[in-house]
Amino acid sequence: MVHVISSGRLRVDDGPYTQAAAAAPFEVMLARHRRSSGVARGHLRDFLGQVPDGAGLLDNGALVLGELVANAVVHARVSPGREIALRLEMVHGHLRIEVHDASNEKPGIRRSTGPDDVSGRGLSLVEELSSEWGWGPRPEGIGKIVWAMVGPEGGA
Ligand SMILES: Nc1ncnc2c1ncn2[C@@H]1O[C@H](COP(=O)(O)OP(=O)(O)OP(=O)(O)O)[C@@H](O)[C@H]1O
Ligand SMILES: [Mg+2]
Repeated sequence: MVHVISSGRLRVDDGPYTQAAAAAPFEVMLARHRRSSGVARGHLRDFLGQVPDGAGLLDNGALVLGELVANAVVHARVSPGREIALRLEMVHGHLRIEVHDASNEKPGIRRSTGPDDVSGRGLSLVEELSSEWGWGPRPEGIGKIVWAMVGPEGGA
């Protein structure tokens, strides 16, 4: 039996037609530290390991996640102790990545990046490899959420 639950996600009950239940959303706090991108990618690998066909989302998902976490570490300059939250969720076969940080500064693609610039490409990569991305206020406190959807087909 399949139930539609309030958040719009499907949950599959035990029964004669039992299927693998969708992986539960995963949430973890990360320190504002340059190693956190790698830590986050490890969490993504574990999360997708529980998702049917999740391996196909790993390469693009890891690149997008690494850029979003790096941005939160580098650009969200707030007092120590204000950590970064990571949330991973499967939505209709797409991986939804959310990175929450405590800065109200908004992310924006730098359209004028030249060939010699050493930075300013992270969000262009996110746009390329995700089907959609965006940002919005953090509901649980100060700061914002930057999110991206990564599908098996790659970018839009
Ligand atoms: N989480 C964030 N908080 C505040 N500002 C952000 C955040 N993410 C991005 N930005 C802003 O958007 C700009 C573009 O981000 P982008 O990731 O494309 O480039 P970068 O981080 O400057 O360089 P690179 O990612 O190539 O090392 C940043 O320079 C920064 O001003
Ligand atoms: Mg960046």
